[in-house]
Amino acid sequence: MKKIAVIPGDGIGPEVIKQALKVLDVIGEKYGVEFEKEEVLMGGIAIDKTGVPLPEETIKICQASDAVLLGAVGGEKWDTLPGHLRPEAGLLGIRKALGVYANLRPAIVFPQLKSASMLKEEALQDGLDILIIRELIGGSYFGEKKKVQLEDGTYKAWDTQVYTTAEIARISHMAFDIARKRDKKLTLVDKANVLESSRLWREVVTEISKQYPDVELNFMYVDNAAMQLIRKPSQFHVILTENMFGDILSDEASMITGSLGMLPSASLGDGNVGLYEPIHGSAPDIAGQDKANPLATIMSAAMMLRYSFNMPEAAKDIENAINKVLDKGYRTLDIMSPGMAAVGCEAMGHLVVKELR
Ligand code: IPM
Ligand code: MG
Repeated sequence: MKKIAVIPGDGIGPEVIKQALKVLDVIGEKYGVEFEKEEVLMGGIAIDKTGVPLPEETIKICQASDAVLLGAVGGEKWDTLPGHLRPEAGLLGIRKALGVYANLRPAIVFPQLKSASMLKEEALQDGLDILIIRELIGGSYFGEKKKVQLEDGTYKAWDTQVYTTAEIARISHMAFDIARKRDKKLTLVDKANVLESSRLWREVVTEISKQYPDVELNFMYVDNAAMQLIRKPSQFHVILTENMFGDILSDEASMITGSLGMLPSASLGDGNVGLYEPIHGSAPDIAGQDKANPLATIMSAAMMLRYSFNMPEAAKDIENAINKVLDKGYRTLDIMSPGMAAVGCEAMGHLVVKELR
C-alpha cells in the first residue's frame, strides 16, 4: 500500500488533480498496487478554511505519506495578503518541510506538438530532451527578507541570496548521478561574473565533478543560457541551477515544448517523501471551465511512480498512453492546432485512462 497526500489547491488545481487521480486508479488496478489517498488543504483554500496557507495538519499528513501530489495554489483573491500568509507561502513551506531540495523539471518536445512550440521547426529538428534540476529550498526564496521604512518615508526591501557548501553539494551529487544515467552532460547555470553565491556554486560543483570524471561539465551564465535556450535548445542536456534561475528558465523551457500545461515536476530530497506537481500555476482565468490541460499533472503522477514507488513500467505506461492520445489528434486548448480535435480537461483525462486500459 502506498500513501499519497493529495493537495488539490486553488484555481485549476482541483480539476487537473482529479484527472491524475483517475489515472492512478487505473494504474493501481493494472499493477495490483493499492494507493491510499488523503486530501489535504493548502494555499488559498486553506487560508479561507483555516486562516493559514499551510495548516500543521497538512504538514503532518504529508510527512507521514510516501508521496505528495499537488495541483496548484494561488489566486487574485489572496494577492493582497502579507507575504507569509499568501498561498505561495504554503507551497514554499511544504517544500521546505519535506526537505525536497532538488526539483526535477523535464522539458521534452512531443513530436506531435512541434507546431505548438514557440520556436521555428528548424530550431527543434534535433529534438529536445532537457532536464532542469532546480535547487528548491534555498537561495533568495528562503534567505533573510525584510522591508523597512526609511526616514524620508520611502522603503528599502531585500531578499538575501544565500547558499552553503552543503546545500550546493547535496544537489550537485544528485545532478551528477542523474547526468551519468542520461547522456553524461551537465551544465551549471549561474551568474558567477557578478554573484558571490554563484562563485561558490562553481567551486563546489567543480570539486565534486572530480568524482564524476565520465560526466562532461560546463558552465553558463544565466543571461546567456536564457538566450541559448531559444537559439539552440538541443545543446542542453541536464541543467543544474539555483532556485530563482531554475524558476525562470523552466517557464522559458515550457514555451519551447509548446505549453506550460505539458511540464511535470518531481521534487526530491534525502528523506523518503517526494513532492510531485505540474510547473504551471493555478490559472484562475480558466478555472472551473474544463479548459485546463491535465497532462502536466498526469505526467507528475508518472514521475511519482518512477521516483517514489519504483514503478518505472507503470510510469512508461502512462507516458505511452499520453503519446497515443496525442497521436490520435486530441488537444486541450493550450496545445491546440488546426485540424486537431479540441477536448476539455475531463475528456483528456478520460482519453488517457482509455488508452491505459
Ligand atoms: C513554480 C512556481 C512557484 C515558484 C511559485 C508559485 C511560488 O512559480 O513552482 O515554479 O516560484 O517556485
Ligand atoms: Mg515558476
